[in-house]
Amino acid sequence: MKQNLILRRILVKVTRYILMINCVATPILYGASEEISLLPKEVTSPHYMSIADNYDTFFHHEEDYAEAMLKDINESLALKGSDIIADLGGGTGTWSEKIAKNFNPSLTICVDPIEAMIKYARDKKGILPLCMPVEKFVKNPDHPITKFLAKGSIHHFENHRALYQDIYKCLPIGGKFLIITSADNCRSYPFFKKVDEWLAQQSSTLESLFKETHETSFKVSTSEKTYQAVITKQKWFTMLRGRFISSLSQFSDEEIEEGIKELNHTLQDSENVPISTKWFFITLEKTNESIYPNTFPAVPPQP
Ligand SMILES: C[S@@+](CC[C@H](N)C(=O)[O-])C[C@H]1O[C@@H](n2cnc3c(N)ncnc32)[C@H](O)[C@@H]1O
Repeated sequence: MKQNLILRRILVKVTRYILMINCVATPILYGASEEISLLPKEVTSPHYMSIADNYDTFFHHEEDYAEAMLKDINESLALKGSDIIADLGGGTGTWSEKIAKNFNPSLTICVDPIEAMIKYARDKKGILPLCMPVEKFVKNPDHPITKFLAKGSIHHFENHRALYQDIYKCLPIGGKFLIITSADNCRSYPFFKKVDEWLAQQSSTLESLFKETHETSFKVSTSEKTYQAVITKQKWFTMLRGRFISSLSQFSDEEIEEGIKELNHTLQDSENVPISTKWFFITLEKTNESIYPNTFPAVPPQP
């Protein structure tokens, strides 16, 4: 019995090692030196380079709902010990690490093209960080990946239709791709008026995601989730000053300071700022029949 267990552990380790070599070999085969020139414009944006050092601190409040979100991720992806997971736009690897720790898949790869972000993923346990844009990563149809995740990152990726096709090609039957995206353009954060008004004017990425995913050969299912978190007022102001989401990059220092004054007034009674973050889950499953066209839900979700 004990010998069987030891043998199983050795087998799992050897399998992981082989898969890791296979996945690490991929960027080498594709030519890592080409990487920089292939980066899409948005990716070279200085936003993630400038916030990388503070990213984990800025998003620490996600710990408040990590357990609930992980449960929902597991429900959507139906994770198994044999799964090989790619966390696309995985950033500093926080969620890759949580998935690896909680569900113990064969391998969790964190894919992100920003070195300043992925360098923090190298400190995280049980994951394989890969510095590469997702568009290039999914080009290999021989990938052993069984589940893909993109949390808070799909809006940065180029040419979604090609991406879905590439992912469809490399997934086995039963393989899944889970997209988690803000359901309200991040408007549930207590922003000051100027930011809130600006966010309200932006076209909903949700609507186009909805349409384009239903035009794929995947079986699509969707759900909305709300999670609660609490941020101290001072931390919230630091996050605003640090432009914790990319949309804040366009506001000047003066506008941010003005906004903080406004919030200091409106939030004056509370030291802690409670927030409800709204997320939209889109699960794409490769079934044994191509089901395009998907039945379109009558009303797409409203942000
Ligand atoms: C909002 S962060 C989300 C990070 C992580 N998924 C999380 O939830 O903590 C978005 C990430 O997408 C990455 N990203 C942007 N364009 C990308 C691309 N073309 N391929 C892969 N990742 C990309 C950024 O570098 C950034 O780390």
